[in-house]
Amino acid sequence: MNIIIAGGDGFCGWPTALYLSKQGHDVSIIDNMARRKWDVELHSNSITPIADLEDRVEKWKELTGREIRTYEGDLNHYDFLKQVLVKEKPDAFVHFAEQRSAPYSMIDREHAVFTQVNNVVGNLNVLYGIKEIVPDCHLIKLGTMGEYGTPNIPIEEGYIEIEHKGRKDTLPYPKQPGSFYHLSKVHDSHNIMFTCKVWGIRATDLNQGVVYGLETEETKMDPLLTNRLDYDGVFGTALNRFIIQSTIGHDLTVYGKGGQTRGFLNIRDTVRCIEIAAEHPADRGEFRVFNQFTEEFSVLDLANKVKKVAQEEGFNTDIAHLENPRVELEEHYFHAENTKLRELGLEPHLLTDEVIRDILKAVMNHKNRVIEENVLPGVSWK
Ligand SMILES: NC(=O)c1ccc[n+]([C@@H]2O[C@H](COP(=O)([O-])OP(=O)(O)OC[C@H]3O[C@@H](n4cnc5c(N)ncnc54)[C@H](O)[C@@H]3O)[C@@H](O)[C@H]2O)c1
Repeated sequence: MNIIIAGGDGFCGWPTALYLSKQGHDVSIIDNMARRKWDVELHSNSITPIADLEDRVEKWKELTGREIRTYEGDLNHYDFLKQVLVKEKPDAFVHFAEQRSAPYSMIDREHAVFTQVNNVVGNLNVLYGIKEIVPDCHLIKLGTMGEYGTPNIPIEEGYIEIEHKGRKDTLPYPKQPGSFYHLSKVHDSHNIMFTCKVWGIRATDLNQGVVYGLETEETKMDPLLTNRLDYDGVFGTALNRFIIQSTIGHDLTVYGKGGQTRGFLNIRDTVRCIEIAAEHPADRGEFRVFNQFTEEFSVLDLANKVKKVAQEEGFNTDIAHLENPRVELEEHYFHAENTKLRELGLEPHLLTDEVIRDILKAVMNHKNRVIEENVLPGVSWK
């Protein structure tokens, strides 16, 4: 299958490109290197040193004989995107290429506007590109579980059956996103659903949970293939951030009470979920939604898990409850369905102490790269 990975230089996209290439797919990457520029803007870095994309793909070719073509450019530049689509004629377009940090989108007006333009316009261009150049191509779009918010009823996979005033219908599940970033994903979902209906686009919206982990079998093959790992208050996600905090002797920074519960998955499951979606394409005109996570944890559960393993490894780790910079419920009901990917063959890698220990040991080698002042949250929702 010819597969384009947009955002293929990023945390999820890079290991996915390698994994799909290893499975025998003909993979190419689109990326505008924006994520590396945001590190410069925020005076931050990946705790792991990451090679340039060209060096990464050259090493991959040397090790496996497999080529991954790269296109450096912005999805917001439609002429660039069209040229890539004409050249590649992809069967599947995996769309990771968005600004994905909720705090980044909440910094100020400029960052909110940038996030929504980058994400919504980029995605709209992808939809037009598919319609005009490769109408049969399957769009595999990364959404987020954060689109749903935390309703007081179970979260379904995309749709809910409703009975209202004696009539029944199956409708898109209500969305209650918690940041301008999460809102951009909801806007994307609406645009995709609409174009499936009016143009017959085939699309899978993967409402992904928070991804943790660092390496996959492929990224471990050589230091030049190492994945990025974020730990700062803007791009670092819970679990990865806690593990890194523990290695530098910092308290694990739980926001508020820590009862905020979310869906999580290992990066090894992210790459497999993309493969499953690609191998089972949506029908023409179908807007299919999968909830892509494997387990649910509260933030405090995660902090306690990391604290336990870190203490076993000899770290003097403690938990600090910070004033919550976000506006969100800190104690709430949360239960979400996630059966569809499992029914298609996903075998989850669950979060054991050994998984935490492995990530902790991997980051130990680079702990001297941590910029300590970046570890605390610097962006407030209010
Ligand atoms: N990491 C998570 O925990 C998580 C959870 C849920 C959903 N997601 C979604 O998965 C996707 C990938 O996340 P990630 O953690 O790999 O993010 P990332 O920032 O590491 O990677 C995104 C990549 O897209 C590129 N990009 C951004 N805008 C672009 C544009 N306009 N044109 C071309 N390239 C562009 C960036 O340079 C970067 O390399 C995102 O859409 C994100 O919303 C991630």
